Amino acid sequence: MVPKLGVIGGGVMGEAILSRLLAQGRYGPESVLVSEPGAERRRALEAQYGVRVTADNAAAAQAGVLLLAIKPQVFGAVAAQLGAELDAPQRSHLSNQLVVSILAGTSLQTLQLAFAQQPIIRAMPNTPALVGAGCTAIAPGPYAQPEHLETARQLFGAIGSVVEVPESLMDAVTGLSGSGPAYVALMVEALADGGVLAGLPRAIAQKLALETVLGTAELLKQTGQHPAQLKDQVTSPGGTTIAGVSALEQGGFRAAVMNAVRAAWQRSRELGQSPGDRSKKQ
Ligand SMILES: NC(=O)c1ccc[n+]([C@@H]2O[C@H](COP(=O)([O-])OP(=O)(O)OC[C@H]3O[C@@H](n4cnc5c(N)ncnc54)[C@H](OP(=O)(O)O)[C@@H]3O)[C@@H](O)[C@H]2O)c1
Repeated sequence: MVPKLGVIGGGVMGEAILSRLLAQGRYGPESVLVSEPGAERRRALEAQYGVRVTADNAAAAQAGVLLLAIKPQVFGAVAAQLGAELDAPQRSHLSNQLVVSILAGTSLQTLQLAFAQQPIIRAMPNTPALVGAGCTAIAPGPYAQPEHLETARQLFGAIGSVVEVPESLMDAVTGLSGSGPAYVALMVEALADGGVLAGLPRAIAQKLALETVLGTAELLKQTGQHPAQLKDQVTSPGGTTIAGVSALEQGGFRAAVMNAVRAAWQRSRELGQSPGDRSKKQ
Protein backbone atom coordinates (compact mmCIF):
# COMPACT_ATOMS: atom_id res chain seq x y z
CA MET A 1 0.00 0.00 0.00
CA VAL A 2 1.36 3.43 -0.96
CA PRO A 3 1.63 5.44 2.28
CA LYS A 4 -0.36 8.66 2.55
CA LEU A 5 2.35 10.21 4.69
CA GLY A 6 6.05 9.35 4.45
CA VAL A 7 8.44 10.70 7.04
CA ILE A 8 12.18 10.63 6.35
CA GLY A 9 13.92 11.02 9.72
CA GLY A 10 12.07 9.76 12.78
CA GLY A 11 13.93 11.98 15.26
CA VAL A 12 12.74 14.60 17.72
CA MET A 13 10.84 16.82 15.27
CA GLY A 14 9.62 13.98 13.06
CA GLU A 15 8.12 12.27 16.11
CA ALA A 16 6.63 15.51 17.49
CA ILE A 17 4.74 16.15 14.26
CA LEU A 18 3.82 12.51 13.72
CA SER A 19 2.51 11.93 17.23
CA ARG A 20 0.11 14.85 17.04
CA LEU A 21 -1.07 14.10 13.51
CA LEU A 22 -1.96 10.59 14.69
CA ALA A 23 -3.53 11.79 17.95
CA GLN A 24 -5.73 14.20 16.00
CA GLY A 25 -6.73 11.46 13.57
CA ARG A 26 -5.36 13.31 10.54
CA TYR A 27 -3.64 10.09 9.43
CA GLY A 28 -4.28 6.52 10.48
CA PRO A 29 -1.13 4.74 11.69
CA GLU A 30 -1.36 2.19 8.87
CA SER A 31 -1.19 5.00 6.28
CA VAL A 32 2.14 6.35 7.60
CA LEU A 33 5.59 5.04 6.74
CA VAL A 34 8.58 6.37 8.69
CA SER A 35 12.07 5.89 7.35
CA GLU A 36 14.75 5.89 10.00
CA PRO A 37 18.23 4.29 10.05
CA GLY A 38 18.31 3.38 13.77
CA ALA A 39 16.80 -0.09 14.34
CA GLU A 40 16.01 0.63 17.98
CA ARG A 41 14.39 3.92 17.09
CA ARG A 42 12.30 2.21 14.39
CA ARG A 43 11.09 -0.38 16.88
CA ALA A 44 10.20 2.33 19.40
CA LEU A 45 8.19 4.36 16.86
CA GLU A 46 6.39 1.24 15.64
CA ALA A 47 5.56 0.11 19.18
CA GLN A 48 4.40 3.50 20.40
CA TYR A 49 2.40 4.70 17.42
CA GLY A 50 1.60 1.58 15.39
CA VAL A 51 3.03 3.22 12.24
CA ARG A 52 4.88 1.29 9.56
CA VAL A 53 8.66 1.73 9.67
CA THR A 54 11.49 1.10 7.25
CA ALA A 55 15.19 1.76 6.78
CA ASP A 56 14.53 2.39 3.08
CA ASN A 57 14.10 6.09 2.32
CA ALA A 58 12.97 5.31 -1.24
CA ALA A 59 9.95 3.41 0.13
CA ALA A 60 8.86 6.36 2.31
CA ALA A 61 9.55 8.72 -0.59
CA GLN A 62 6.62 7.28 -2.53
CA ALA A 63 4.05 8.67 -0.12
CA GLY A 64 1.41 11.21 -1.16
CA VAL A 65 2.92 13.68 1.30
CA LEU A 66 6.62 13.39 2.07
CA LEU A 67 7.87 15.07 5.24
CA LEU A 68 11.63 15.60 5.35
CA ALA A 69 12.73 15.69 9.00
CA ILE A 70 16.42 14.81 8.70
CA LYS A 71 19.32 17.05 9.71
CA PRO A 72 20.30 19.48 6.93
CA GLN A 73 23.78 17.97 6.67
CA VAL A 74 22.44 14.59 5.51
CA PHE A 75 20.06 16.06 2.93
CA GLY A 76 22.58 15.81 0.06
CA ALA A 77 23.13 12.08 0.67
CA VAL A 78 19.40 11.37 1.03
CA ALA A 79 18.57 13.33 -2.14
CA ALA A 80 21.30 11.49 -4.09
CA GLN A 81 20.01 8.16 -2.78
CA LEU A 82 16.42 8.93 -3.82
CA GLY A 83 17.64 10.12 -7.23
CA ALA A 84 19.50 6.85 -7.75
CA GLU A 85 16.87 4.46 -6.37
CA LEU A 86 13.54 5.72 -7.69
CA ASP A 87 12.86 4.36 -11.18
CA ALA A 88 10.98 6.15 -14.01
CA PRO A 89 7.46 4.80 -13.24
CA GLN A 90 7.91 5.76 -9.59
CA ARG A 91 8.96 9.24 -10.67
CA SER A 92 5.91 9.84 -12.85
CA HIS A 93 3.70 8.74 -9.94
CA LEU A 94 5.51 11.28 -7.75
CA SER A 95 4.56 14.30 -9.86
CA ASN A 96 1.51 14.75 -7.57
CA GLN A 97 3.48 14.29 -4.38
CA LEU A 98 3.82 17.18 -1.95
CA VAL A 99 7.26 17.49 -0.34
CA VAL A 100 7.40 19.31 2.98
CA SER A 101 10.80 20.16 4.44
CA ILE A 102 11.60 21.39 7.95
CA LEU A 103 15.36 21.47 7.29
CA ALA A 104 16.83 24.67 8.71
CA GLY A 105 18.80 26.64 6.13
CA THR A 106 17.98 24.38 3.17
CA SER A 107 16.52 26.63 0.50
CA LEU A 108 13.61 25.91 -1.80
CA GLN A 109 16.11 26.14 -4.65
CA THR A 110 18.20 23.31 -3.18
CA LEU A 111 15.09 21.26 -2.43
CA GLN A 112 13.72 21.87 -5.92
CA LEU A 113 16.93 20.50 -7.49
CA ALA A 114 16.25 17.20 -5.75
CA PHE A 115 12.48 17.16 -6.36
CA ALA A 116 12.27 18.68 -9.83
CA GLN A 117 8.97 20.31 -10.71
CA GLN A 118 7.25 18.95 -7.62
CA PRO A 119 5.21 21.03 -5.21
CA ILE A 120 7.40 21.80 -2.19
CA ILE A 121 6.70 23.65 1.03
CA ARG A 122 9.61 24.81 3.16
CA ALA A 123 8.75 25.16 6.83
CA MET A 124 10.44 26.49 9.95
CA PRO A 125 8.86 25.15 13.14
CA ASN A 126 10.24 25.95 16.59
CA THR A 127 11.00 23.92 19.70
CA PRO A 128 7.68 24.45 21.58
CA ALA A 129 6.28 22.21 18.82
CA LEU A 130 7.44 19.36 21.06
CA VAL A 131 4.54 20.16 23.40
CA GLY A 132 2.09 21.19 20.67
CA ALA A 133 2.68 24.91 21.28
CA GLY A 134 4.98 25.69 18.37
CA CYS A 135 4.65 28.27 15.66
CA THR A 136 5.66 27.37 12.16
CA ALA A 137 6.30 29.61 9.18
CA ILE A 138 5.67 28.01 5.80
CA ALA A 139 6.93 29.19 2.40
CA PRO A 140 5.61 27.68 -0.85
CA GLY A 141 7.85 26.65 -3.74
CA PRO A 142 7.00 27.63 -7.34
CA TYR A 143 4.95 24.47 -8.03
CA ALA A 144 2.93 24.57 -4.81
CA GLN A 145 -0.80 25.21 -5.27
CA PRO A 146 -3.30 26.50 -2.68
CA GLU A 147 -4.28 22.90 -1.81
CA HIS A 148 -0.64 22.11 -0.98
CA LEU A 149 -0.45 25.11 1.32
CA GLU A 150 -3.65 23.92 2.97
CA THR A 151 -2.11 20.46 3.53
CA ALA A 152 0.97 22.10 5.08
CA ARG A 153 -1.25 24.26 7.30
CA GLN A 154 -2.95 21.12 8.55
CA LEU A 155 0.36 19.31 9.12
CA PHE A 156 1.87 22.11 11.17
CA GLY A 157 -1.45 23.08 12.73
CA ALA A 158 -1.07 19.78 14.59
CA ILE A 159 1.93 21.20 16.47
CA GLY A 160 0.77 24.78 17.03
CA SER A 161 0.05 27.85 14.96
CA VAL A 162 1.05 28.49 11.36
CA VAL A 163 1.91 31.60 9.34
CA GLU A 164 2.74 31.89 5.65
CA VAL A 165 5.69 33.99 4.50
CA PRO A 166 7.69 34.34 1.30
CA GLU A 167 10.93 32.38 1.51
CA SER A 168 12.91 35.65 1.58
CA LEU A 169 11.60 36.15 5.15
CA MET A 170 12.68 32.74 6.48
CA ASP A 171 15.89 34.18 7.98
CA ALA A 172 13.82 36.77 9.84
CA VAL A 173 11.54 33.97 11.07
CA THR A 174 14.63 32.11 12.29
CA GLY A 175 15.79 35.22 14.18
CA LEU A 176 12.43 35.65 15.90
CA SER A 177 10.46 32.43 16.45
CA GLY A 178 13.25 29.97 15.60
CA SER A 179 15.73 31.41 18.09
CA GLY A 180 13.09 33.08 20.29
CA PRO A 181 12.59 30.16 22.70
CA ALA A 182 16.19 30.71 23.90
CA TYR A 183 15.52 34.42 24.55
CA VAL A 184 12.36 33.61 26.50
CA ALA A 185 14.18 30.90 28.47
CA LEU A 186 16.80 33.53 29.43
CA MET A 187 14.01 35.86 30.53
CA VAL A 188 12.48 33.14 32.73
CA GLU A 189 15.89 32.36 34.23
CA ALA A 190 16.60 36.03 34.91
CA LEU A 191 13.19 36.60 36.51
CA ALA A 192 13.78 33.63 38.81
CA ASP A 193 17.26 34.90 39.71
CA GLY A 194 15.74 38.27 40.53
CA GLY A 195 13.25 36.57 42.82
CA VAL A 196 16.06 34.71 44.59
CA LEU A 197 17.94 38.01 44.93
CA ALA A 198 14.85 39.42 46.63
CA GLY A 199 14.76 36.48 49.05
CA LEU A 200 12.44 33.89 47.44
CA PRO A 201 13.34 30.21 47.64
CA ARG A 202 14.64 28.99 44.25
CA ALA A 203 11.79 26.57 43.52
CA ILE A 204 9.13 29.17 44.23
CA ALA A 205 10.99 31.84 42.25
CA GLN A 206 11.26 29.44 39.29
CA LYS A 207 7.54 28.62 39.39
CA LEU A 208 6.50 32.26 39.67
CA ALA A 209 8.83 33.28 36.82
CA LEU A 210 7.57 30.57 34.49
CA GLU A 211 3.88 31.11 35.27
CA THR A 212 4.26 34.87 34.87
CA VAL A 213 5.70 34.52 31.36
CA LEU A 214 3.15 31.86 30.41
CA GLY A 215 0.20 33.74 31.91
CA THR A 216 1.14 37.06 30.36
CA ALA A 217 1.52 35.48 26.93
CA GLU A 218 -1.85 33.77 27.32
CA LEU A 219 -3.50 37.02 28.46
CA LEU A 220 -2.11 38.92 25.46
CA LYS A 221 -3.18 36.12 23.13
CA GLN A 222 -6.72 35.80 24.49
CA THR A 223 -7.46 39.53 24.74
CA GLY A 224 -5.62 40.56 21.56
CA GLN A 225 -4.37 43.53 23.57
CA HIS A 226 -1.29 45.46 22.45
CA PRO A 227 1.59 44.72 24.89
CA ALA A 228 1.97 48.45 25.63
CA GLN A 229 -1.69 48.60 26.76
CA LEU A 230 -1.12 45.78 29.24
CA LYS A 231 2.04 47.48 30.52
CA ASP A 232 0.13 50.75 31.00
CA GLN A 233 -2.63 48.96 32.90
CA VAL A 234 -0.25 47.48 35.45
CA THR A 235 1.96 50.54 36.06
CA SER A 236 0.29 52.72 38.69
CA PRO A 237 1.77 56.21 39.29
CA GLY A 238 4.77 56.08 41.60
CA GLY A 239 4.21 52.32 42.03
CA THR A 240 6.35 49.21 42.08
CA THR A 241 5.92 48.13 38.46
CA ILE A 242 6.94 51.46 36.92
CA ALA A 243 10.07 51.30 39.11
CA GLY A 244 10.83 47.88 37.60
CA VAL A 245 10.04 49.05 34.05
CA SER A 246 12.35 52.04 34.55
CA ALA A 247 15.17 49.69 35.60
CA LEU A 248 14.58 47.56 32.50
CA GLU A 249 14.73 50.65 30.28
CA GLN A 250 17.98 51.77 31.95
CA GLY A 251 19.37 48.31 31.13
CA GLY A 252 18.37 48.71 27.48
CA PHE A 253 15.98 45.75 27.67
CA ARG A 254 13.92 46.41 24.56
CA ALA A 255 16.95 47.36 22.47
CA ALA A 256 18.73 44.20 23.65
CA VAL A 257 15.81 41.99 22.58
CA MET A 258 15.51 43.72 19.20
CA ASN A 259 19.26 43.35 18.71
CA ALA A 260 19.02 39.65 19.55
CA VAL A 261 16.47 39.11 16.76
CA ARG A 262 18.58 41.17 14.37
CA ALA A 263 21.80 39.29 15.24
CA ALA A 264 20.14 35.88 14.77
CA TRP A 265 18.52 37.05 11.51
CA GLN A 266 21.90 38.24 10.19
CA ARG A 267 23.65 35.04 11.29
CA SER A 268 20.97 32.97 9.58
CA ARG A 269 21.57 34.91 6.35
CA GLU A 270 25.34 34.40 6.64
CA LEU A 271 24.94 30.65 7.20
CA GLY A 272 22.53 30.38 4.26
CA GLN A 273 25.22 31.87 2.02
CA SER A 274 27.85 29.29 3.12
CA PRO A 275 26.35 25.83 2.53
CA GLY A 276 29.06 24.10 4.58
CA ASP A 277 27.82 25.91 7.65
CA ARG A 278 24.11 25.09 7.28
CA SER A 279 24.22 22.45 9.99
CA LYS A 280 25.13 25.13 12.56
CA LYS A 281 21.83 26.98 12.13
CA GLN A 282 19.53 27.64 15.13
N1 LIG B 1 14.45 20.57 16.89
C1 LIG B 1 13.94 21.76 16.57
O1 LIG B 1 13.46 22.52 17.42
C2 LIG B 1 13.87 22.21 15.13
C3 LIG B 1 13.27 23.43 14.80
C4 LIG B 1 13.19 23.79 13.45
C5 LIG B 1 13.69 22.97 12.47
N2 LIG B 1 14.28 21.79 12.81
C6 LIG B 1 14.81 20.94 11.76
O2 LIG B 1 14.24 19.67 11.89
C7 LIG B 1 15.12 18.70 11.36
C8 LIG B 1 15.21 17.55 12.31
O3 LIG B 1 15.70 17.99 13.56
P1 LIG B 1 15.59 17.08 14.85
O4 LIG B 1 15.84 17.97 15.99
O5 LIG B 1 14.33 16.28 14.79
O6 LIG B 1 16.85 16.11 14.59
P2 LIG B 1 17.06 14.59 15.04
O7 LIG B 1 16.35 14.31 16.32
O8 LIG B 1 18.52 14.28 14.94
O9 LIG B 1 16.28 13.78 13.91
C9 LIG B 1 16.83 13.44 12.66
C10 LIG B 1 16.53 11.97 12.42
O10 LIG B 1 16.97 11.64 11.10
C11 LIG B 1 17.60 10.37 11.16
N3 LIG B 1 18.51 10.18 10.04
C12 LIG B 1 19.86 10.39 9.99
N4 LIG B 1 20.33 10.08 8.76
C13 LIG B 1 19.26 9.66 8.04
C14 LIG B 1 19.10 9.21 6.71
N5 LIG B 1 20.14 9.11 5.86
N6 LIG B 1 17.87 8.85 6.28
C15 LIG B 1 16.79 8.93 7.11
N7 LIG B 1 16.88 9.37 8.38
C16 LIG B 1 18.10 9.72 8.83
C17 LIG B 1 18.33 10.40 12.48
O11 LIG B 1 18.68 9.08 12.87
P3 LIG B 1 20.03 8.86 13.75
O12 LIG B 1 19.78 9.57 15.04
O13 LIG B 1 20.10 7.38 13.87
O14 LIG B 1 21.15 9.47 12.96
C18 LIG B 1 17.29 11.05 13.39
O15 LIG B 1 16.40 10.08 13.92
C19 LIG B 1 16.45 19.42 11.13
O16 LIG B 1 16.65 19.62 9.76
C20 LIG B 1 16.31 20.74 11.83
O17 LIG B 1 16.98 21.76 11.13
C21 LIG B 1 14.37 21.38 14.11
